[in-house]
Amino acid sequence: MRIEDKPTVGIGLIGSGFMGRCHANAFGAVAGIFDLPADPVKSILADATDEIAAAAASALGFSRATSDWQAMVQDDSVDIVAIAAPNVLHEPMALAAIAAGKTVYCEKPLSTTASSALKMTKAAEAADVVTSVGFNFLRNPMIGLARQMISSDEIGEITGFRGRHAENYMASPDAPHSFRTDPRGGGALCDIGSHILSLARHLLGPVAEVNGHSRTIFPDRPVAARSAERRAVVVDDMTHALLRFASGVSGSIEANWAATGRTMDLSFEVTGTKGAIAFTQERMNELLLYSGSGHKAGYQRIEAGPAHPPYGRFCPAPGHQLGFNDLKVIEVAQLVEAHAAHGSCMPDFREAFEVQKTAEAIQSSAQSREWVTVCTAPG
Ligand SMILES: NC(=O)c1ccc[n+]([C@@H]2O[C@H](COP(=O)([O-])OP(=O)(O)OC[C@H]3O[C@@H](n4cnc5c(N)ncnc54)[C@H](O)[C@@H]3O)[C@@H](O)[C@H]2O)c1
Repeated sequence: MRIEDKPTVGIGLIGSGFMGRCHANAFGAVAGIFDLPADPVKSILADATDEIAAAAASALGFSRATSDWQAMVQDDSVDIVAIAAPNVLHEPMALAAIAAGKTVYCEKPLSTTASSALKMTKAAEAADVVTSVGFNFLRNPMIGLARQMISSDEIGEITGFRGRHAENYMASPDAPHSFRTDPRGGGALCDIGSHILSLARHLLGPVAEVNGHSRTIFPDRPVAARSAERRAVVVDDMTHALLRFASGVSGSIEANWAATGRTMDLSFEVTGTKGAIAFTQERMNELLLYSGSGHKAGYQRIEAGPAHPPYGRFCPAPGHQLGFNDLKVIEVAQLVEAHAAHGSCMPDFREAFEVQKTAEAIQSSAQSREWVTVCTAPG
């Protein structure tokens, strides 16, 4: 029997570190898990040097390798450009890919400032290209369930939101500088605060006003791993903010990359007049629901399973659990579908710009020590 030829979509990936590998593996796995209109083909991998690119292309199954990402984004074999490079490079890479008419899949944060993110958003909208940003935690079926419970009034009128993204990868004063501590848009708020802000907006809508407090815990860090030379840190290690959502709901977030003991506490609690829900990425296959009163009151654990799409795509049995990399598979499935249909793929560049604008308002409030209104103009 002849297997029918399916259309293909060419992938050009920039960067092969933590996220680049995750993108490559997701593009490799997705066609076996989802019924897609086109099969991704790993075409070209670009990295900082020819040597790094060649080794990564070979390990990750790309046909070609290059250190010239400018040429790669224009190559006819590339339909989707995936950007998994340091934040400061997102803008030039995305603008070049947009100019070449490609679908652009960019890692978070979209860029280093809101004005840069807006420039990228406007360019993408003017060129009418499909965009998507790597806020992969929104793809968790348990987050989909939480959003549905909130919008369907299951926990009543929403009265509060408490969110946190806390990890410990910068908890040592000897954790070195990297692009994450770059004065041009690094810091805990941009790096992981962007995730909890995207989640807050996904669940409860736009944030209208913020009051932030930021702190640099360690005044200097080694310039590189194992170096004795140290350089001053000018970005935040920890930021807290009070939020007032446009709906009137009050809330708070914490972004903290020096949270000793915490490895992936992207967590939230949403309270309503009839119930409450709670989640942490450290137990990403569970959602806690409080809905009762009386002698059996208390949080109940909902276990992820096929009843929560698209869990069943991965496994027909509950309790077997999805993992972090599966969220990226779900993300690229939606991206390939949007690319084929020339449709929208949320969170897109505009949504990521809104996240960045909210983060920048928090930074501005932390400096002025006053409440700051998040600009509502579309830009
Ligand atoms: N969505 C998530 O959950 C998540 C998690 C981690 C990182 N990220 C984001 O992914 C991006 C990359 O982070 P990472 O942790 O993978 O970093 P990394 O340091 O592990 O990898 C960065 C890659 O970019 C390459 N690179 C550097 N300069 C380059 C250049 N001039 N041209 C081409 N390639 C270049 C590096 O060689 C490396 O392969 C960042 O924007 C980060 O915020 C997202």
